[in-house]
Amino acid sequence: MTDENKQRLDSYIEAVNRRIDIYKNSYGGNSSDHQYEVTQAMWYSLEAGGKRIRPVLAEEFCRVCGGSSEQALTAAAAVEMIHTFSLIHDDLPCMDNDDYRRGRPSCHKAFREDTALLAGDALENLAYRIIADDDKLSAEKKVMLIRELTEAVGIHGMIGGQVIDMYNDGTEVFSDEKLLKMYMMKTSALLRAACRMGCICAGAYDRADDAGNYADRLGLAFQIIDDILDITSSEEVLGKTCGSDAASGKCTYAAVHGVKASEEYAAVLTDEAMTYLERFEDNKFLIWLTEQLLHRKS
Ligand code: IPE
Ligand code: IPE
Ligand code: MG
Ligand code: MG
Ligand code: MG
Repeated sequence: MTDENKQRLDSYIEAVNRRIDIYKNSYGGNSSDHQYEVTQAMWYSLEAGGKRIRPVLAEEFCRVCGGSSEQALTAAAAVEMIHTFSLIHDDLPCMDNDDYRRGRPSCHKAFREDTALLAGDALENLAYRIIADDDKLSAEKKVMLIRELTEAVGIHGMIGGQVIDMYNDGTEVFSDEKLLKMYMMKTSALLRAACRMGCICAGAYDRADDAGNYADRLGLAFQIIDDILDITSSEEVLGKTCGSDAASGKCTYAAVHGVKASEEYAAVLTDEAMTYLERFEDNKFLIWLTEQLLHRKS
């Protein structure tokens, strides 16, 4: 069973990577363009990989809702472009100031800082463009997908969460309520969009709320594990800067409650997430994936 799940995971990642490659050829620009440096920076960060969790969730929710995983590939690539944009900006000197990401120097280290800023902007823009340009998606689905993304990215979503984190500089011990609100916005919101967009691609609009409720809890657990790994892991294993939260005095769930209690709470949140998966038939892969994310080492 594990082998089967692993194969499905790999095939989903390969499929979205192939799709990203197609977009690179059609939207990537070429060496005669004076914008070439920005397009190079976009693909440098996007192609560096990462776990591709958001695309995988979009593909699988589409499949469990009666569609095919391929039907979700545009949405999957769009969500990964948005996620990569958030990482490029998150690493900038004016934000977390981290020099290492996805196993290579951060975008602003490999390119100029202004280039990295614009590469992030351009990736966000491209996410909406590929949805608008897709001739297999109905106009209704395109509007719904773009709406999901704008909600997830906006001031009540990822950007709002990053704003709260901007003021998380050691001057205030955040209450659990404030920490979880920040995690819900900066991390759950985009995972929620990925899962809901999978349902939308399948035309299963009435399944989106269950998928979103699952993703909310998954996202909280995911960010708590991310904070734990920042304390306990290494740059070689994680592929990104470690110890960054402590160095900048960030208040995280793990910093406040310690690693053990945080692991336990992430497990509770994962159990809560699982209760929403029970509402989907053929949920074995999602259950396996959710469990893997709880125990992940990177
Ligand atoms: C990192 O996300 C930022 C968080 C929301 C914690 P991922 O851990 O999914 O990063 P990649 O995509 O694998 O690089
Ligand atoms: C970032 O959280 C979440 C984003 C919206 C990018 P972190 O700042 O903890 O993410 P990492 O650890 O740099 O990947
Ligand atoms: Mg950050
Ligand atoms: Mg960061
Ligand atoms: Mg982190």
